[in-house]
Amino acid sequence: MISFVGAGPGAADLLTFRAADRLAKADVVLWAGSLVSPDVLDHCRAGALRLDTKEMTLEQVVEVFAAHSDAAIVRLHSGDPAWYSAIGEQIAWCVANDRPFEVVPGVSSVSAAAAALGVELTVPGVSQTVVLSRLAKRTAKSLGPGDDLAAYAAQGGLLALFLSAGDPARLQATLLGPGSAYHTGTPAAIVHRVSRPDEQLIRTTVGEIADTLTAHDIRTTALVLVGDALAPAAGTCVGRSHVYDPAFATAYRDATS
Ligand SMILES: C[S@@+](CC[C@H](N)C(=O)[O-])C[C@H]1O[C@@H](n2cnc3c(N)ncnc32)[C@H](O)[C@@H]1O
Repeated sequence: MISFVGAGPGAADLLTFRAADRLAKADVVLWAGSLVSPDVLDHCRAGALRLDTKEMTLEQVVEVFAAHSDAAIVRLHSGDPAWYSAIGEQIAWCVANDRPFEVVPGVSSVSAAAAALGVELTVPGVSQTVVLSRLAKRTAKSLGPGDDLAAYAAQGGLLALFLSAGDPARLQATLLGPGSAYHTGTPAAIVHRVSRPDEQLIRTTVGEIADTLTAHDIRTTALVLVGDALAPAAGTCVGRSHVYDPAFATAYRDATS
């Protein structure tokens, strides 16, 4: 079995029980050392073969899969493997080569960032929509037609931007481009290396994103969150949910006045 396992954002205790179980039983562990924290490998058994994939190609990774056909293999990806993890091409190899696989979800950096900031990203009365996206850079061809950050900025809502801190001026210019729903005062947050000992949480505004990233020399392993849902400080919620409103009937209780 090849298990594609979410390694979480860094802290070794931000894994699922299932992820820890797969790591404890694995014969071979391939981990992306550029993003996966080495602390997570503490869950591996002593005799497991550990291979850092940060200098490997897809071809070299699947060569390891092919060479260990009867082994329990864990392929560790940071956060949740559903987002920007390149598991799709590895799953295609598994299907083409008749190899059983599973995906073990993880704690995404976006969930960990919201937790560290102490915010809900879907605030009733403000925004109920979160868009996970990225700025197009060297890998622009990965984006499909119309998959354009400027178009999402025009919609508003809460934007969670991965892989985008390396080009601060263009990031800010795109967020404030023609037709954008955001303005220089729109709340933003930069979350760097969340859940790791050197975590940085910086609340700022869209108009200050570029200067803030540059001043803190943050280029990688950072999320940029943008939107009015970030506005309230912890404990100053601006809206409330229908589901816990006494005047709103649900399938489990009647409305009371
Ligand atoms: C290749 S993507 C992987 C995302 C991952 N699958 C997830 O769910 O978090 C790498 C990007 O995720 C974000 N990221 C990953 N770990 C992070 C962390 N500990 N703190 C902040 N951002 C992180 C950064 O935007 C980074 O450039």
